[in-house]
Amino acid sequence: MTADKVLPPEIEKVLLDEKTIEGRVTELAAQIDEDYAGLGSLVLVGVLKGAFVFLADLARRLRVPHQIDFIALSSYNRGSISSGEVRLIMDTRVNLTGRHVLVVEDIVDTGHTLDYLLRSFGARLPASVRSCVLLSKPDLREVDVAIDYVGFEIPDVWVVGYGLDYAERFRTLPYVAALKRDALEDGQRSEPDACA
Ligand code: PRP
Repeated sequence: MTADKVLPPEIEKVLLDEKTIEGRVTELAAQIDEDYAGLGSLVLVGVLKGAFVFLADLARRLRVPHQIDFIALSSYNRGSISSGEVRLIMDTRVNLTGRHVLVVEDIVDTGHTLDYLLRSFGARLPASVRSCVLLSKPDLREVDVAIDYVGFEIPDVWVVGYGLDYAERFRTLPYVAALKRDALEDGQRSEPDACA
């Protein structure tokens, strides 16, 4: 992979290259196509911002009819540590009642965000609610949350690229990479947006 030759200096190493991600996303889409065949009413809800790349690639591989929507949340972090508090910043535009809802997330760390979403969407009387997550860090889990479709389980290292950021950088790298430890500075993980 040529990207290895031009890694940004803050990047330790590539964990998942483009081909590996593409292959897994294709598998996930095929599984979702199979599971939702004939059901109709599928809504993919991407969790901003990190899920925008994964959602775009996943949705374009799906054959089952689907709509796209987004939700934005603010999680309160202390440095690089999640406090577990989640606040709604922007809700979905689609009415989820009676729909099959698939939450699309880039990563699950503690599980608080996905747990909040599944509870919130479950209360809107959908036909079903499931989750599709590209990356899962089981070592960080604080909430036993259900992930129906998972791309990769990864160790507890700070990852960027393919939608994931560090202080709003690196989201558009085409691969998932580990950040160097010395590039991590306290208090910079994801500051609440100005409107939060
Ligand atoms: C990340 C990620 C998930 C959440 C997972 O979002 O996209 O939404 O953290 O963490 P948890 O399992 O510990 O709750 P982040 O707050 O970094 O915002 P972003 O997607 O806008 O980068």
